[in-house]
Amino acid sequence: MSKAGALDLASGVGGKIEKDDVLSAVDKYEKYHVHYGGDEKDRKENYTDMVNKYYDLVTSFYEFGWGESFHFAPRWKGESLPESIKRHEHFLALQLGLKPGQKVLDVGCGIGGPLREIARFSSTSVTGLNNNEYQISRGKVLNRVAGVEQTCDFIKADFMKMPFPDNSFDAVYAIEATCHAPDAYGCYSEIYRVLKPGQCFAAYEWCMTDAFDPKNKEHQKIKAEIEIGDGLPDIRLTRQCLEALKKAGFDVVWEKDLAADSPIPWYLPLDKNHFSLSSFRLTAVGRFFTRNMVKVLEYVGLAPNGSQRVQDFLEKAAEGLVEGGRKEIFTPLYFFVARKPNGQTQ
Ligand SMILES: C[S@@+](CC[C@H](N)C(=O)[O-])C[C@H]1O[C@@H](n2cnc3c(N)ncnc32)[C@H](O)[C@@H]1O
Repeated sequence: MSKAGALDLASGVGGKIEKDDVLSAVDKYEKYHVHYGGDEKDRKENYTDMVNKYYDLVTSFYEFGWGESFHFAPRWKGESLPESIKRHEHFLALQLGLKPGQKVLDVGCGIGGPLREIARFSSTSVTGLNNNEYQISRGKVLNRVAGVEQTCDFIKADFMKMPFPDNSFDAVYAIEATCHAPDAYGCYSEIYRVLKPGQCFAAYEWCMTDAFDPKNKEHQKIKAEIEIGDGLPDIRLTRQCLEALKKAGFDVVWEKDLAADSPIPWYLPLDKNHFSLSSFRLTAVGRFFTRNMVKVLEYVGLAPNGSQRVQDFLEKAAEGLVEGGRKEIFTPLYFFVARKPNGQTQ
């Protein structure tokens, strides 16, 4: 799993946004959110603009901190963060029962870290669907470097309106991506449509848990921090995802919040009290260095104006995620496997 350097971070901030427009894009992005007077209705109506601005602004920070896979993972004692991330991807492939030669869809594929790993692990062909052009351009480069461009490709499209015929795929998965959908039912219905009958869809979803109290001010603050720091229009409850899956026509094979059994908490890499050399850039000390480095790079003009502001809202995300995880009101690891019944064509 490769990690980008400081200059890659600086030159990538803003993605496909013109460098001179990065600062105003940060302003516009922030205004969608509660801390800046924004509301859920506006975020949902403008989800394409909001989510694309977010990923244009943050992708190079993600690559710098996380590597090629942009997701959390349950973790065993003695296991490094990169090992746990790969194991989480292998687990998904095993739960889907992937077989060599199958045609698989990765919904909201980022820059393709999971896609390359799962395609190699299971000898399948994986198509990555993503609505962010910058991430696809990064993914194509990394596919070539990894030598998987014969079996893996990318399509730029919205997962609410997929450009595939009915019954196209042998399996579909989504890793921490469909939480960006303005409506879970609409998104799951599209997945249902493109999946072959009798085949499975599996996902890791970002959700509020049953411990979340919508009237509790502190809970509300944590939820709003996660939304702004992670480009989310809203965060659904686990049971709302389950209801949406069933309404879309799926039979739920199994579902579980995998955070519950993880010996090492998923949020530990971001926790201020934790230090690790192997995931140094994610730690509070590492983030302090990154903040100062970005300040210098912005000052000398190597990173666009607005870069520090991106780092600031990512910092907010880290705080919200750790608090949400510690209080068990939020999980990024709500996992399910759902089957499209046989005999259903759409
Ligand atoms: C947190 S990232 C996860 C990426 C990838 N699954 C991984 O684990 O590395 C969420 C991804 O969902 C994509 N996404 C968000 N909304 C989308 C939409 N409406 N249609 C397609 N992709 C979308 C984003 O562009 C981003 O790549």
